[in-house]
Amino acid sequence: MKKRILFVDDEPNVLQGLGRMLRNMRHEWDMQFADSGAQALALMERKPAEVVVTDMRMPGMDGGELLHRIKDLYPQAVRIVLSGHSEKEMVMKAVQSAHQYLAKPCDADTLKITVTRAYALREILTRDALRRLVSRIGSLPSLPSLYTELLEELRSPRSSTDAAGRIISRDLGMTSKVLQLVNSAFFGLPRHIETAAQAARLLGLETVKALVLGIEVFSKFSNDCAPGFDLQGLWSHSLAVGAAAKLLARQEKLDKEEIDQAFVGGLLHDVGKLVLASHCPEEYADILETSESEDASDLSKAEHRCLGAGHAEVGAYLLGLWGLPDPVMEAAAFHHAPSFHPSRTFGPVTAVHAANALVNVTGEGREEWPVPGLDMGFLEETNVVDRLPAWQKACKSLVQGEKADG
Ligand SMILES: [Fe+2]
Ligand SMILES: [Fe+2]
Repeated sequence: MKKRILFVDDEPNVLQGLGRMLRNMRHEWDMQFADSGAQALALMERKPAEVVVTDMRMPGMDGGELLHRIKDLYPQAVRIVLSGHSEKEMVMKAVQSAHQYLAKPCDADTLKITVTRAYALREILTRDALRRLVSRIGSLPSLPSLYTELLEELRSPRSSTDAAGRIISRDLGMTSKVLQLVNSAFFGLPRHIETAAQAARLLGLETVKALVLGIEVFSKFSNDCAPGFDLQGLWSHSLAVGAAAKLLARQEKLDKEEIDQAFVGGLLHDVGKLVLASHCPEEYADILETSESEDASDLSKAEHRCLGAGHAEVGAYLLGLWGLPDPVMEAAAFHHAPSFHPSRTFGPVTAVHAANALVNVTGEGREEWPVPGLDMGFLEETNVVDRLPAWQKACKSLVQGEKADG
């Protein structure tokens, strides 16, 4: 079935340009064009579109308000802003209801891949089986409070590493956990870090913010996991995958934003396991037993068999609920099955997929080739197979450094 896509822009030239540029998509997309927010809402009422791409500055209802209304009325719709390049940060901060940002002028390929990606992610998140499982679980944990405070601080135009450090320092338990982590071999820092602000200055606010989120999430789930569930093991694994994904992203010269997303995605890629192990403990204990001594794909299969969805999708769902950006959700959603991700360019998804498989093997001191869990077909299509030896080496020194460190 064709995807219905609605484009909204007050400038007729822009709409005509989009129509011309996307002509060859007409067999896959059913495209509609509106020249105002009001017209867009009227068209949505007649026949809701699955994807809405809107300009920001429009007379009357602006793009932010339009997306806000669409979020309320049609929560399933994918919401994309198409706006001036220099506005990205401002727009994404202001328009919390947008899933993606596209800079004008935008070429057909970028637009196509952005829409396809946003749609693919939302498609798995709205599958019936996952929805049934999530509604059975009932209330999912809300975003941890200290993390929310940091988010608010970072949103302010005067945000600083010192202010973020002060927020973390108020919580002594958190401070010592953060310091213990940043001084571990995973971060390979040349000197001992003594304060949270210092950590933020050296590692970047995004990394420290992600660590706070990881620590809070894992401690939230610590009491009520399924019998036989190795929470400590999962935390060490998550840290290793986060650090490894960041390393690979840096080696492949991604930009700073994507390197941070690879770290957060790696750190939280298995967060769905926590949700399942704590909310469905009996079933999860069975799942662990039946898939014990088998590899990760068997665990996913057992989860699907028993619960209708796997930890990857459940995790991505939770991250979406918390408002984490699409690339982080994608890294979680596709970490065992990257070929379902429509892009074939190295990015956070590839980094987390590879880091997860490589850390699993090196962590157990195994030298196996091909590496179990790596999707070689996907890596070939992404053109990175020749990078594997270097990645393997990087992951090995990371894991061994950490072990030597104790
Ligand atoms: Fe996993
Ligand atoms: Fe994993």
